[in-house]
Amino acid sequence: MLHLEQLSKTYKTGETALHDVTLDVPKGQILGLIGPSGAGKSTLIRCINRLVEPSSGKVLLGDVDLAKLGKADLRRQRRRIGMIFQEYALVERLTVMENVLSGRLGYVPFWRSFLRKYPPADIQRAYALLDRVGLIDHADKRADALSGGQRQRVGIARALAQDPELLLVDEPTASLDPKTSRQIMRLLTEICTERGLPAIVNIHDVPLAQQFMQRIVGLRAGRVVFDGAPDALTEAALTQIYGEEDWNAMRAGDAEQAAAEADARDRIAALAK
Ligand SMILES: Nc1ncnc2c1ncn2[C@@H]1O[C@H](COP(=O)(O)OP(=O)(O)O)[C@@H](O)[C@H]1O
Ligand SMILES: [Mg+2]
Repeated sequence: MLHLEQLSKTYKTGETALHDVTLDVPKGQILGLIGPSGAGKSTLIRCINRLVEPSSGKVLLGDVDLAKLGKADLRRQRRRIGMIFQEYALVERLTVMENVLSGRLGYVPFWRSFLRKYPPADIQRAYALLDRVGLIDHADKRADALSGGQRQRVGIARALAQDPELLLVDEPTASLDPKTSRQIMRLLTEICTERGLPAIVNIHDVPLAQQFMQRIVGLRAGRVVFDGAPDALTEAALTQIYGEEDWNAMRAGDAEQAAAEADARDRIAALAK
C-alpha cells in the first residue's frame, strides 16, 4: 500500500532529520511510530504527503510516487491521505458538522465551498461519521465549545470524510488525559480495522502504542532502529530507541504546532474563497 524507499530529509538548517528510511505499510496495518522528541517522527509522516518536501527517496502510494508529482497532481493525490493532528486543527468558529464537511473540500467545486453548499450525500455521510465517533448530538455546536476528546473525535471524522486510503496521525493524544487518550486510541484503531484502513500513528506514549498498535517502528536520530511486534519491544529495544536519557522529560518539537496551524489556515482560506 505504502512503500517508502531511502527517504531522506535535510532541512535548510543543515539538520538531517531522516536518513534513508525504507518502510512498507501493507493494507490494513496500524503502525505505531515511536522515538524520542526530535527523532524525525513528524518529519517522516509529513514527507509522505509532502507538507515537508523530502530531500531524496521514493514515496509510493500504490504505484504513484508522491515525491515526483507536480503541484496539481499532488493536490489530487493528497485526497487519498487523511491527516489527524495533536492540536486537532479545527476551525474554531465553525460547527462540528462544518468542520467534518471541510474534509470534503478537496472534492467540492469552489463555488460550492464558497456558498458552503455540500452535496446531500456528503452531508449524510458526515452525519454517519459523527454518529460513528459518538458526536451526533453535537453536530451544530461550535468547535470551540467542545472538550479535547470531542475535538479529536471531530478530527477523526473530518479525516474520514475525505474517504482516505491511508491515515497519518501525529501524536493524537498528546493533549489529552490518560483515560481520554485510551478512548481515542481505541476509536481510531477500531475504525481503521473496520475499514481495512492502514495508518501510521506517531505516538510518544509507549504503553499506549503497545496496547493498540499492530506493529511498532522505532526511530532514533532519523533512522529506523526497531521494527517489530509490540511484545518484542523489550527494555533493551527501548534503550536502543530512546537511549539512557530520561525520555519522559523531552518535549515535543514545535513542528506539530506549525503544521497544524498551516492546515487550519488552508481550511479557513478555502472556506473564504
Ligand atoms: N522546519 C524545520 N526546520 C529545521 N529543522 C527542523 C524542522 N522541523 C523539524 N526539524 C528538526 O528535525 C528533527 C526531527 O524533528 P521532528 O520530525 O519534529 O521529530 P519528532 O516528531 O520525532 O519530535 C529535529 O532535530 C528538529 O529540530
Ligand atoms: Mg513530532
